[in-house]
Amino acid sequence: FGNPWIFIRGVPSLKFLPPEGPMEVAFAGRSNVGKSSLINALTGQKGLARTSNTPGRTQELNYFVPDGYSGEGDDLPPMALVDMPGYGYAQAPKEQVDAWTKLVFDYLRGRATLKRVYVLIDSRHGIKKNDEDVLTLLDKAAVSYQIVLTKTDKIKEAGVPRLIAETMDKIKKRPAAYPAVIATSSEKGKGLDDLRAAILETIGH
Ligand code: GTP
Ligand code: MG
Repeated sequence: FGNPWIFIRGVPSLKFLPPEGPMEVAFAGRSNVGKSSLINALTGQKGLARTSNTPGRTQELNYFVPDGYSGEGDDLPPMALVDMPGYGYAQAPKEQVDAWTKLVFDYLRGRATLKRVYVLIDSRHGIKKNDEDVLTLLDKAAVSYQIVLTKTDKIKEAGVPRLIAETMDKIKKRPAAYPAVIATSSEKGKGLDDLRAAILETIGH
């Protein structure tokens, strides 16, 4: 993750998606779970993805790519990190929620170059009904995904191993789920090396 990352495109609806090309890794999850913050933490670039205390901040599929690819040395290969609008945000107008949900679901279901989806789950809340719906969609579409627990700084440190074990148990029968669960805190920089390694492995680097 040594390259600087740059924002290249915001996609408000499917017809604005870039042509399928480089491998993509997407970050999905309920509104406010910490998707954009995690992208900033992973890349070490605070202002890269816009974050907010208010749910519903990210409203498009936002594409980030490593800048300056030369094809030599330890350069990251062409790839994209895709920050997604959150799901499950009830306060927004219904038409807007429906549009985001459709965008997220259509993208997740239909993107051939999407290598893996990181489904973020707030450590304090665990897997909710709408998370289950997304996992089921990914299972049906045979899209590989891995669960990432976020905001572990908000729970007791001693409870983290148990939460990981419980979460792994909940997804063990799901066919497209990667069995391991990664616990992170963007705030405290926890679990980021594990997640970077998982992403690099996914793209075969
Ligand atoms: P939407 O784009 O609205 O779906 O939200 P998001 O999932 O991108 O969440 P975002 O990264 O904007 O973060 C939401 C809030 O959670 C912000 O106030 C962040 O500062 C906070 N947050 C994110 N990650 C962490 C974390 O690891 N620990 C703590 N304590 N707060 C966090
Ligand atoms: Mg966001």
